[in-house]
Amino acid sequence: MKAATPPMGWNSWNHFLNKTKLRADIPATTEKAVLNQARALVDTGMAAAGYEYVVLDDCFQSYKRDHQGRLQGHPHRFPNGIKYLADQIHDMGLKFGIYSVPGSLTCAQQYDDYHGLDLGSLGREEVDVQAFAEWGVDYLKYDWCRAHINDGLKAPAAFKKMADLLSKYAPEIVYSISEYGLFESHLWAPDFCNLWRTTDDLMPNWPSLMRTLDLQENLYPYSKPGHWNDPDMLQVGNGDLSDSENRAHMYLWAILNAPLMAGNDLTTMSEKTLQLLTHPGVIAINQDWAGSQGRLTFNLDGIQIWEKPLSSGSTAIVILNRSAEIQDFNVTQKFEAVSSWKDVWSGDQAISGNISIPPHDAFLLISQ
Ligand code: GLA
Repeated sequence: MKAATPPMGWNSWNHFLNKTKLRADIPATTEKAVLNQARALVDTGMAAAGYEYVVLDDCFQSYKRDHQGRLQGHPHRFPNGIKYLADQIHDMGLKFGIYSVPGSLTCAQQYDDYHGLDLGSLGREEVDVQAFAEWGVDYLKYDWCRAHINDGLKAPAAFKKMADLLSKYAPEIVYSISEYGLFESHLWAPDFCNLWRTTDDLMPNWPSLMRTLDLQENLYPYSKPGHWNDPDMLQVGNGDLSDSENRAHMYLWAILNAPLMAGNDLTTMSEKTLQLLTHPGVIAINQDWAGSQGRLTFNLDGIQIWEKPLSSGSTAIVILNRSAEIQDFNVTQKFEAVSSWKDVWSGDQAISGNISIPPHDAFLLISQ
C-alpha cells in the first residue's frame, strides 16, 4: 500500500519561501541547495529516523516549457535537469517528490511574482505525468492555487483527472493534494489521494499553529492507512517558534498522524531541532495506526487534551497549554483508570498527579 503510514520527508518550500519573496526572479531553490538538504537528511540521521522524501516544491521551473511542451527545471538553477536531481537523490537512498498545479498558474506565480508561461498542468496533464514517470518521481504535490477562479476548474474533478493519469502511467507515485480545505477534500480525497491538505498554509508562529490545529478537530474520521489528513508541512525550527512551541507543534503533528514533512534548513539546524524531529518515541506515535488519528477530548481554560489509541493497547495523549501562563493539570484525576504515564520525551515512566505545563508547551504521554 502506498503511504501505509504518514509520509515523512523534507520539502523545499518552507525554508526557501522567504528568499523567494526577497528576489522573486532569482529564488534560492537550486539543484545545489536541494542536494545539500538531501545530503543533510542522510548525514544528520533524519533519513534513518524515517524521513525519506525530498520534495521539490514550487519555483523549480524554467519560465517556459521545452519544445515538446514539457516542464523543465530553471536552466541556471537546475543546470543538469530534474532527472539528474532525482537520480542523485535516489542514489542517496532517498525518494524524490515534485510540485505541480491543476490550473494554469502556480501559487508562486500568483503570490510571489514568479515568472513563467504555461507552468501549470492544465491541458498538459498527460505530458506532465509522463515526464514525472520518466524522471523517477515518487511523490507529487498537486496544489490548487485558485484554479477555480483562474481557469474555472472544479474540485474534485481536476484532482481526479490527475489521479487517473497517475494510475495509468506511474501508479507508485504518492499523490498529495492541496486545496486548503476549500472544497471539503476530506470527504472525497480519501477515494483517490494519499494525503490532502486540510487548511491554508501553516506559518512559523503560534497563532497560525493554533488556528491550523483548531481546523483539525472534526477531521479524525477521515484518515486511515494510505489516506491522511495533512495539516501542512512542519515549521519546526523555523521563524518565530520558541523551543516550547516547536515541541508542541511536533507532538501535535505526531498525534494527528500528520505527514511529517520537515521544512527547515537541515544544513544549519540546531541539535535541539534535530532531536525533536528525530525522537524515536514521537515518530513511533505518528507512524502507529490503531484505528484513529488523535482527537480532541478535553478543552478547558487553555488546556487541551488530544488523545489517540496505540496498537499496543495504550493511549497516547498530548496535553497542550495554549495559554500564556504556566498551568497545572492533574492527569490522574482526569484519567482515573491509568495509574501512571510515560513521558515520551524523557522516558520517565512514573508520571502521575499534577503536571506543570509551561505556556505554549505540551507533554506527550503514553498510558502504562
Ligand atoms: C501554496 C502551498 C504551499 C506551497 C506554495 C508554493 O501556498 O500551500 O505549500 O506549495 O503554494 O507556491
